[in-house]
Amino acid sequence: MERTFVMLKPGVVQRRIAGEVISRFERKGLKIIALKFFRMDRSMAETHYAEHKGKDFYDKLVEYTISGPVFAMILEGEDAIGVVRRLTGPTGLKDSLPGTIRGDFAAQTRLNIVHASDSPASAAREIGLFFQPGEIFPWEDGNAGWF
Ligand code: CMP
Repeated sequence: MERTFVMLKPGVVQRRIAGEVISRFERKGLKIIALKFFRMDRSMAETHYAEHKGKDFYDKLVEYTISGPVFAMILEGEDAIGVVRRLTGPTGLKDSLPGTIRGDFAAQTRLNIVHASDSPASAAREIGLFFQPGEIFPWEDGNAGWF
């Protein structure tokens, strides 16, 4: 089993599509083992997106990320990092196909609806940034035989 970090960006809340987006992860069979709804401060957003510092979209990305509350979550499942990235679709608007979350809901690359960890190293780093160990709740899956 693998764990990955997902953040629904402020536009998801403002457009009232959080349930629809979370539902895609649930319907796939991923387990939500941690979830919080909160507004990030600037320092946390800058830490989260540190690898993009200096890029032309960085300042606007940070402003957008702190412009309203987000849903942060940890999803667990077999190959969860890859499964979630395939469900979200690629980062760029031109590459995200219909049927993916970004392909269906995002109209701009910067406002691309969701953030999802892209590797085991970033999943570990992002889970550690957003969640304390006591905020993570693994549970037994009564439907395990179906997946
Ligand atoms: P995310 O998966 O959260 O990781 C970095 C974010 O930077 C990305 O989603 C987009 O919101 C944003 N981003 C990446 N590339 C570009 C780009 N070329 N133009 C604008 N924003 C971008």
